[in-house]
Amino acid sequence: MHDFDVVVIGAGAAGMMCALRAGQRGRRVLLLEHGDAPGRKILISGGGRCNFTNLGCVPERFLSRNPHFARSALARYTQHDFIGLVRKHRIAFHEKTLGQLFCDGSAREIVAMLLAECLAAGVDLRLDHRVADIAHGTGFTVTTQRGAFAAPSLVLATGGLSIPKMGATGVALDVARRFGLAVVEPRPALVPLTFGGEALALMRPLAGVALDSIARCGRAAFREAMLFTHRGLSGPAILQASSYWQAGEPVTLDLLPERDGAALLLEGKRARPKAQPQTVLADLLPARLAQSLAALHLPARVIGEIGDKDLLRLAALLKAWRLLPDGTEGYAKAEVMAGGVDTAALDQRTMMAKAVPGLFVIGEAVDVTGWLGGYNFQWAWSSGWAAGESA
Ligand code: FDA
Repeated sequence: MHDFDVVVIGAGAAGMMCALRAGQRGRRVLLLEHGDAPGRKILISGGGRCNFTNLGCVPERFLSRNPHFARSALARYTQHDFIGLVRKHRIAFHEKTLGQLFCDGSAREIVAMLLAECLAAGVDLRLDHRVADIAHGTGFTVTTQRGAFAAPSLVLATGGLSIPKMGATGVALDVARRFGLAVVEPRPALVPLTFGGEALALMRPLAGVALDSIARCGRAAFREAMLFTHRGLSGPAILQASSYWQAGEPVTLDLLPERDGAALLLEGKRARPKAQPQTVLADLLPARLAQSLAALHLPARVIGEIGDKDLLRLAALLKAWRLLPDGTEGYAKAEVMAGGVDTAALDQRTMMAKAVPGLFVIGEAVDVTGWLGGYNFQWAWSSGWAAGESA
């Protein structure tokens, strides 16, 4: 006779959703968390307002070795289901941009909502429980520094490796490997890109400058703001592209989205021949960036004396600036981990390991990574719900 029907390890977004759903089904659920509070990443998300889902959530906005894997869970517990839960708890929210939904008040309301649902479903939440060992026999026995707990179902919901100072661990990946599940090599995603050499020499003095752009990496393209930093580039467009970036590949930037750079520069030359080129450029770009690019790519003359060829070369650069990152800012700054437990090892309906009945993996620990904008929480809710339905 087991003490519990389900042990969930990790009281984050996915773990709480899974626990509350399994509890609603009448399962006796133990939710173990090694930190001193549940949902800590929820609390810091979205600048403290939690971008909890996205109205435009579709499977195509997730990266995975198997791009079809997420379909089933995302279809069975959708963004509209989560919005319904948020409404039921009378949490005020708004759409910020691109379908991104944020709390009007605080991310604390989302954590309080999940805790209230867990409580109502009879979930036994225990904080400050560090998992020391997991044994597998007729069921699973999880040993912590405060005792051992047994159940026929075990759910790994310990998240990814990003922000290690908040208690992120690779425990789900370690346990998965121990049970013979394949792991897709994890890497930081939604992360600022770093540069060296001439590129960094240009970028560093521009730290803090932001502009609308299209960032392209491979076949992916994102139109959003980008930001220069002391180490390279950040901002939503770059974070999005970073998830698709592989070492050694370039990132290409369009600094004039939907604008014809060549026509604009030639028209500027015709209309104001006595102007400095950076003055004309500053009509198109932030002034500091205009100044740096003009100094680097144009002769020090009034624009009327600069040949069309030079202007057209600069215009081409502004539309397709090809840059080679030398790395990323790593897990310390990454919003998520890409890679994780290989979806080939899991049943897409239930999130249960095909080869280890009773073992489930959900949330960021799985090789499913969403775009920036509420997609990663939606994956946590959907995968958590799927496991909670059958654990
Ligand atoms: P999560 O990390 O939420 O939970 C894992 C839990 O397991 C944690 O409570 C952890 O302490 C616990 N744990 C780890 N190891 C353990 C162990 N050995 N024993 C017991 N417990 C253990 N996404 C989004 O959609 N919208 C947003 O606005 C943001 N904003 C954002 C900001 C920042 C700064 C970051 C770092 C991330 C985001 N994200 C986001 C991403 C989002 O936070 C993330 O994808 C989800 O929290 C993943 O949910 P999980 O439940 O899988 O992991």
